[in-house]
Amino acid sequence: MNKEVRALAAEFKAFLSSREEDDLTPAACNQAAACISATGEAASDTTPSLLPSAAETQPQDHLTIEFAHVARSASTGSHCAGNAPTASAPSKILPTAHEAAAASSLPGVRCAEAVSMQTAQADTQDKTEASHSLMQETPMTPQEKQAALDQLAEEIKNCRRCPLGQTRLNAVPGEGNPAAELMFIGEGPGFDEDHQGRPFIGRAGQLLDKMIAAMGLKREQVFIGNIAKCHPMVNPADPQARGNDRAPNAGEIAVCRKYIERQIAIISPKYIVALGGVAAKALISDTKSLGALRGKFHLLHLDTVELKTPVKILATYHPAALLRNPGWKKDAWADLQMVMAEMGLKRPQA
Ligand code: URA
Repeated sequence: MNKEVRALAAEFKAFLSSREEDDLTPAACNQAAACISATGEAASDTTPSLLPSAAETQPQDHLTIEFAHVARSASTGSHCAGNAPTASAPSKILPTAHEAAAASSLPGVRCAEAVSMQTAQADTQDKTEASHSLMQETPMTPQEKQAALDQLAEEIKNCRRCPLGQTRLNAVPGEGNPAAELMFIGEGPGFDEDHQGRPFIGRAGQLLDKMIAAMGLKREQVFIGNIAKCHPMVNPADPQARGNDRAPNAGEIAVCRKYIERQIAIISPKYIVALGGVAAKALISDTKSLGALRGKFHLLHLDTVELKTPVKILATYHPAALLRNPGWKKDAWADLQMVMAEMGLKRPQA
């Protein structure tokens, strides 16, 4: 274990025992609190879900997805995603069954402009694509995985399948070890990530680095990604404003989920830590609150690809939520220790 990792691990230990409030601005605090309550960070079973019930997850023949209105240009008013899906959009953007189901409830959608997507073979398209490229008999080498991830990252950078693609500064595909045994998955990029095109590099990311180090790992040993690949903003007209972050809504998650699923299929990790309620609900496909989902492993099932080997997923608090709610740190550490026990990792000595 090198010095840097030991220092990060020691800082996380210090963080665990500290109780002081973070120094987020009031606006950021309000926003974070809004996100947290919207995503069920609090251990409550009554939090409304972003995902549909089992009965709603049946494939559908017709789908309407609504996206938050995009108001990028102050002078001309709003334009909702010039390249967003339309009724006559090509089949490439057809949603999966999960997308259709998620979009059919859309509690997170606040807006205004409806985008219609016709689908006849919704579920099969992505699955077939992914099967051809990913479901080979022989496992990919790390080099092959890196090449596949790079290719996918290019696709993500060119993606305009939802309005977030119009307002982002940079897409944030994710980064790390292409053959990682462990992946960390958050909800979506924030201000810093949008500016640099890299995941978890702001304050929450610095805490995540410490959490990873506390597990005895380095950031480069794991893969870090997000459900949404572009920055969801409260005011999409102002990507230069800090504290302008929000959680991705159900429509955005539905459209973007094929990317994280393909990344998981390529990397083929043994374990995933879902950071926060949005990532946990989307990946575990369960409507329960984060409080109800965390504390145990779930077996991962994906919608758009079939996994060749089982992946265990554990949900815990988002680092941004831990910065806001120091009282949850002990539980988060207990969650990480469950992963460490499964992976046979020993806690580093500070
Ligand atoms: N929060 C997330 O969920 N993801 C990031 O990349 C940064 C902050």
